Amino acid sequence: MDAIAVRTGAGKAELIDVPKPEPGPGEVLVRTLRVGVDGTDHEVIAGGHGGAPDGSDHLVLGHEAVGIVEDANGTSFIAGDIVVPTVRRPPNGPNEYFERGEPDMAPDGQYHERGIVGKHGFMAEYFTSPGEYLVEIPESLADVGFLVEPISITEKAVAHARASRSAFEWQPESAVVLGNGSLGLLTLAMFEESFDRVYCLGRRERPDPTIDIIESIGGTYINSNETPVAAIPDDYEAPDLIFEATGYAKHAFEAIEALAPNGVAALLGVPGDWAFEIDGGSLHREIVLHNKAIVGSVNSHIPHFEAAVESLSAMDQSFLDALITGVYDLKEFETAFVDDDTTIKTAVQFDSI
Ligand code: NAP
Ligand code: BGC
Ligand code: ZN
Repeated sequence: MDAIAVRTGAGKAELIDVPKPEPGPGEVLVRTLRVGVDGTDHEVIAGGHGGAPDGSDHLVLGHEAVGIVEDANGTSFIAGDIVVPTVRRPPNGPNEYFERGEPDMAPDGQYHERGIVGKHGFMAEYFTSPGEYLVEIPESLADVGFLVEPISITEKAVAHARASRSAFEWQPESAVVLGNGSLGLLTLAMFEESFDRVYCLGRRERPDPTIDIIESIGGTYINSNETPVAAIPDDYEAPDLIFEATGYAKHAFEAIEALAPNGVAALLGVPGDWAFEIDGGSLHREIVLHNKAIVGSVNSHIPHFEAAVESLSAMDQSFLDALITGVYDLKEFETAFVDDDTTIKTAVQFDSI
């Protein structure tokens, strides 16, 4: 069957032929419908993050999948169910994190991530998965089901950010999303529902399709060329919540300064090594004297996927139409990996219902 993979060091995705998988005990065979592409895929292809399974010279890509159950294989699913798989799998048999249903909290070495690190992904005509790592979604969401995984990332990060503020009466009113990529825009659409005022920072000049999306959902665009993160309180307002989705390492520290007292910043980006100077004393003092919290968050699991299905159901079709700039079949899969200023969210289509 066809699959899309990156050969180690090749720096680009290619179409390869792999055997169709056979479901083992407790595993479901899923016919793949669509698989999304995000910033992590670009980092994996470039060799900056993740890696192929041991003994393999390639990694089948894809961690944002939606598919249709082909063979339920004795699990609680039935053929025809529309499902979304979670990303992490135990590396060598279960460990405590998987056993308690929190693989998203596992440290390095205690997980593989399908399509990212150590285990082939979902960009193939079929994939198998233990039933416990599949979440059923309504058939009406099948076309956009590849957005459940990225939305689940935000569900987890926000749950952790809110938990860090749960020891007092926190009443956030404003949120700033750093980054106008697909994760940033999905997050902004979710925040628009729950905050009085939402902002999204990018480095693009007008006209730009992401700025149009930000404004169409009621957000305010902040141009980082005019307003660096630390100047957001002066030019706009000090936000109660900052959600960093740029992967630009300085933003983690600038966010501490920009937050309102008692605020929280959730850091999502995965930057490479970068040494730069910061005023550690000032940042340390700022966190302490203004009760600020900085929360890192990676991956997500079943409860976050379930919450994501609800959030996706509530999103306006016009927003989703603007966000998804292209869905490409296998003949033109390379276009799904183009990363330019007109591309926001793409997916590869393997099949339809
Ligand atoms: P993406 O499409 O590459 O988006 C990143 C966005 O940030 C782009 O729009 C980029 O702008 C903008 N940006 C980068 N540096 C900037 C700067 N200095 N100032 C202003 N804007 C800047 O990636 P994504 O898929 O949305 O993901 C965002 C980040 O989250 C990535 O680092 C990714 O690795 C990470 N991520 C983490 C998790 C997790 O579990 N923690 C999950 C998914 C993604 P331009 O387009 O104009 O360059
Ligand atoms: C994926 C997560 C994964 C993270 C780090 C993200 O793009 O959506 O599931 O944990 O990358 O590899
Ligand atoms: Zn991702």
